[in-house]
Amino acid sequence: MDFQQAEHDIQHLLVEKKKRNCLQRVVDYLYVTFDVYSWVGIYLLQGEVLVLHSWRGQQATEHTEIPLGEGVCGAAAASGKTEIVDDVKADDRYLACFLSTQSEIVVPIWKHGKVVGEIDIDADQRNAFTSQDAMFLEKVADMLSTHI
Ligand code: SME
Repeated sequence: MDFQQAEHDIQHLLVEKKKRNCLQRVVDYLYVTFDVYSWVGIYLLQGEVLVLHSWRGQQATEHTEIPLGEGVCGAAAASGKTEIVDDVKADDRYLACFLSTQSEIVVPIWKHGKVVGEIDIDADQRNAFTSQDAMFLEKVADMLSTHI
């Protein structure tokens, strides 16, 4: 699956704005479409806490609530910048969820000039995420923004 096609598919998926479960649909799409994405979640910011809204993967995470500034998730939400961690074991900020996870990307979702949530994706291999993933997921985050 190339990123352009995926972007197009997600646009279609979100076209009917009144459809419920938009965020879950996008999470499901990303999880089933990209083999390397081993866990996909969307957190929404409630006050100073990121709260897990939708996810898909082999297992549930214990980190369903992450304070702003904590973990890779909290860092990305605080800075508003995409975080790519090539090797989670080498990053002190990393909050472990799954033993199998080796790398991670976190992409903030912006709305009206503020971070309102983020897309968090894990992979079971190191260096799984490239700048191409980041650009693609930043577009997905933009598309999601109107559904939050
Ligand atoms: N690893 C994240 C926590 C969320 S789990 O990956 C689902 C972090 O360091 O913030």
